[in-house]
Amino acid sequence: MKILKLLTTAALVALTAPIAQAAATNPLAWQNKTLSPDARADLLVRAMTLDEKLLVVTSYYGTQFDWNEYRNPLARRQSAGFVAGVPRLNFAPQWQTDAGSGVATQGVAVPDLQRTALPAGILTASTWNPDMAVRGGAMIGAEARASGFNTMLAGGVDLLREPGNGRNFEYGGEDPLLAGTMVGAIARGIQSNRIITTIKHFAFNDQETRRTTVNILVDEPAARMSDLLAFQIAIEQGDPGSIMCSYNLVNGEWACQNDWLLNKVLKRDWGYKGFVMSDWGAMHDTVKNALNGLDQEAGVQKSTDYVYRDKLKAAIADGRVPEKVLDDKVRRIARALIASGAADDVPTPDNPIDFAAHEKVSQADAEEGIVLLKNDGHVLPLAGAAKRIAIIGGHADVGVLTGGGSAQVYPRGGSPVKGEGPDHWPGPHVYAPSSPMKALQAERPDAKISWASGGDLNKAAATAKDADVAIVFVTQWTAEGMDFPLTLPNDQDALIDAVARANPNVVVVLETGGPVLMPWIDRVKGAVEAWYPGSKGGEAIARILTGKVNPSGHLPATFGRAATDWPRASIDGENRGEKEVFDVRFSEGAAVGYKWFDKNGIKPLFPFGHGLSYTRFTQGGLKAAAKSGTIIASFSVRNVGSVRGKQVAQIYVSPVGGGWEAPKRLGGFAKLDLAPGQMKTATVTVDPRLLGMWDSAHPGWKVAGGKYRVTLATSATDPGTSVIVSLPAAHLPAGRGAGK
Ligand code: BGC
Repeated sequence: MKILKLLTTAALVALTAPIAQAAATNPLAWQNKTLSPDARADLLVRAMTLDEKLLVVTSYYGTQFDWNEYRNPLARRQSAGFVAGVPRLNFAPQWQTDAGSGVATQGVAVPDLQRTALPAGILTASTWNPDMAVRGGAMIGAEARASGFNTMLAGGVDLLREPGNGRNFEYGGEDPLLAGTMVGAIARGIQSNRIITTIKHFAFNDQETRRTTVNILVDEPAARMSDLLAFQIAIEQGDPGSIMCSYNLVNGEWACQNDWLLNKVLKRDWGYKGFVMSDWGAMHDTVKNALNGLDQEAGVQKSTDYVYRDKLKAAIADGRVPEKVLDDKVRRIARALIASGAADDVPTPDNPIDFAAHEKVSQADAEEGIVLLKNDGHVLPLAGAAKRIAIIGGHADVGVLTGGGSAQVYPRGGSPVKGEGPDHWPGPHVYAPSSPMKALQAERPDAKISWASGGDLNKAAATAKDADVAIVFVTQWTAEGMDFPLTLPNDQDALIDAVARANPNVVVVLETGGPVLMPWIDRVKGAVEAWYPGSKGGEAIARILTGKVNPSGHLPATFGRAATDWPRASIDGENRGEKEVFDVRFSEGAAVGYKWFDKNGIKPLFPFGHGLSYTRFTQGGLKAAAKSGTIIASFSVRNVGSVRGKQVAQIYVSPVGGGWEAPKRLGGFAKLDLAPGQMKTATVTVDPRLLGMWDSAHPGWKVAGGKYRVTLATSATDPGTSVIVSLPAAHLPAGRGAGK
């Protein structure tokens, strides 16, 4: 052992000596593209002075707004972050932009900063189509690069534990496999533009109320099998250049100075090679931040804010933080930018953007992610016989809603709705100028469309009475920094009731950021969850309503019947003091979403995985076998209806004898595009971690030997068909090594 160690050290010295020499003689040696990203990053670090290194680990707010005391003219306008470069070494600045739906501007933006809004992350997750997520990511990443950014802050994957979380719209739902796969795919798409992205908010930032003082208590096995698994999968599949640690505390320590989260789980167990940036202003203690794994401080607005630059310099000077710790941070940052291509191909601002092409991508995403929840009596698609169509509410005459906060993309053309919602961040309410009503009229020139804003119940009812079918648009604006009740705001439930009393053929289109309660559901024939459908959401909704597009979105989260269906009926924090640290215990552990509903026998309103189509499918021929420590399942799906459609076939797994956190887990899925009468087969390999329990005694995943049930279903409550497979016992390592 000792000899091996000596040899390794000798080999290392032999290897690093030329690097040190090269850096000393030529400070630009790092630009040699024939070297590996690791070697180049190393050369760059060696060429830097201490002050230059400290610049690279400090990110300032990028906006030119008055409240930002630090206003660097080199920062991109209205952007989230700016990190100075090192001109002497040709190392470019980092220009950082939010977020998962496109290039965001922290609110309202002038025309030349308006961009294409991809639908909300939760809608992209509803597509269950990773290829679509890659396309969407590639589109927003292209706009980021064309706007002069080399870093996107996109890829939110916190699990939907709280249905009222104001940021659910940015995330990928409640299941670690689905969320991790879809968010990883978005990241992959973004980074295909030779820029980096940031998977966030690590970790357990599952509520917004008092997000900087809430202390999440979660035991390690539950943590590893839920939110952390979602991050792990997203990182493996997306290979993001950076990870953003969150505002909250986890088991007694703030996430951005949490040794367990950053050093042990992320960097040691998962082998993550990228860098950790803080959420904006989420740092607390320079030395703890530095030693416990935070690489880059983000969000500095005032000269008194610094946690890294000045204070880290002092901590290095007096030996509280060794300089090699700083070197590792700079090396990680440099490596991510070099490996992605961003360091060599530095983005410039104000490049032309093909908005027409990008809006098509946004629309395609919306058309695959909008979920048909209910369709009694085939009220949809709107048949030719529906000649008089009433459109009511939700500003459907002018646009579709978007989510607020740092993820706010101000859509091209500007918001047609002004003066609604908070007049300051995270407001105001912003609508994409894509009117479902106008788009419907364009699709159905033969129909007479009437309109009522919904503000006056009598008028709404009268408009509905005169129509063959009434479509009520309801909206729930959600945003960063706040959480929301599950009841639709502004008495929209009463609006639906009034319309349903006037007309038997009512379809409700929801534009919400997550699950909401639907006390009226039995009184309407149809319901469509459109989420925040992006720049061309109006067109997408219209094409789904008319049947030009066959809906194929499926829920990435359970819709309950009452707030008490979830582990916590309300979100704690509202009445807490501003600086008061308080506990929220995730007593449900890893039983998040459908797992919780299943375990407690709670019947959801609409289950996880649910989504209707205008055609019918049959699923069958399920075969499953144990292979290389996991389960491989194959099956067939046939379109037995009369129109083309896409089905999301879902494989659930469970140990026959029980013993997991919940009766079953999603083990895999496949989305299949089928012409009428067509049949396709698919094969799904279950991620072996989904067959195991986290083993704290021997860190890793313990798969119990025995019998497992493999079920082919269409949702988490569909009994489906099952086969039984025997698996040998196994123990899997904690991570597979991940990241740039
Ligand atoms: C948000 C992050 C965002 C950052 C920069 C923070 O408030 O939590 O998601 O990337 O601001 O705008």
